[in-house]
Amino acid sequence: MEYVTLKNGVKMPKLGYGVYQTPPEETEKCVLEAIQTGYRSIDTAQAYGNEEGVGNTLAKCGLPREEFFITTKVWISNAGYEKAKASIEESLKKLKTDYIDLLLIHQPFGDYYGTYRAMEEAYEEGKVRAIGVSNFYPDRYLDIEHFSKIKPAVNQVETHVFWQQKEAKKYMKKYGTQIMSWGPFAEGKNDYFNNPVLKEIGGKYGKSVAQVALRFLLQSDVVVIPKSVHKNRMEENFNVFDFELTAEDMAKIEGLDGGESLFFSHYDPETVEWFMTMA
Ligand SMILES: NC(=O)c1ccc[n+]([C@@H]2O[C@H](COP(=O)([O-])OP(=O)(O)OC[C@H]3O[C@@H](n4cnc5c(N)ncnc54)[C@H](OP(=O)(O)O)[C@@H]3O)[C@@H](O)[C@H]2O)c1
Repeated sequence: MEYVTLKNGVKMPKLGYGVYQTPPEETEKCVLEAIQTGYRSIDTAQAYGNEEGVGNTLAKCGLPREEFFITTKVWISNAGYEKAKASIEESLKKLKTDYIDLLLIHQPFGDYYGTYRAMEEAYEEGKVRAIGVSNFYPDRYLDIEHFSKIKPAVNQVETHVFWQQKEAKKYMKKYGTQIMSWGPFAEGKNDYFNNPVLKEIGGKYGKSVAQVALRFLLQSDVVVIPKSVHKNRMEENFNVFDFELTAEDMAKIEGLDGGESLFFSHYDPETVEWFMTMA
C-alpha cells in the first residue's frame, strides 16, 4: 500500500474502500471481503446507516485495530456543538473503537462551525487522529481553513476523470489539505466504464477502465475510496499499484475533465434546499 502523510503527520492509505449505499445487512460481509482483499482504510458515515456493520467486522476480523484507518462523517442532522459531540460518541460506539482515524463534516450546511468545534475537542482528547471536511467547495473550504484552530487535514469532494477538481485542488494544495475523492467512478455515470479513452489506455497495460481511472487519480495525488459490493471488483480496484500511466496517458485523461459535477452543485440553491430537508 502507498500512503500520504497528512498535515499533522498521520499516515493515510492512498486507497481505501467506501461503503456508501452498501446496505447495513450486507456491510459486514462486504467489509470482511474488502479486508481479505487487502483494504485497510474504510470510509463510512453516520448518514450511511452502516457504521455498526463496519464496527462489527473490525471487532471480528482478528486483526489489530492499529492496522486500520477508519473514516466517518458527522451528518447535517447532527450539526452544532452539542449534537455533534454526542454523535461522535455514538459513532465511536457503533464502530466499536476508542478512536476514529479521520472525522469529517459531511456537508457544509447548518451550524457546521459548532460541529467543527466538537471535532477539534475530540481531536485534542485523542478520540480522533485527524479532522477535516467534505463537500467544501473552494469558498467554504477557504473560510474554515482560515477560521479554525486545527486546520482541516482532508477535504473529501466529488473527484473523477470527468470532474478533476483542478481549481479546488489549487487551494487545498496551497494550505496542505489532502484531497480525497468521493465517487471515483462517478457511480458509473456518463457511461464511465465504457469510456473509449480509458479503454484504449487500459488496453496497453492489460488493465480495466476502473483501474486506469483509479491510477489516474492516484498519480494526481488524490486519495481514492472506490465502492463495490462484489469481491471480484474489490480485487480489480485494489490491483492498481503494478503499473504506471505515462505523461501522455495522463494528458489524454486530463482532456476528459468537464469541470463540473455529474451529480449536483453545492452552489445550486435547489440542491441546498434539498439538503435542508435532511437537517
Ligand atoms: N462525502 C460524500 O458526500 C460522499 C458521497 C458519495 C460517496 N462517498 C464515499 O465515496 C465512496 C465511493 O463513491 P461511490 O460509492 O458514491 O461511487 P463509486 O465508487 O464512484 O462507484 C460505485 C459504483 O461503481 C460500481 N463499481 C465499482 N467498481 C467497479 C468496477 N471495477 N467495474 C464496474 N463497476 C464497478 C459499483 O457497483 P457494485 O457495488 O455493484 O460493484 C457501484 O455501482 C462511497 O462508498 C463513500 O464511502 C462520499
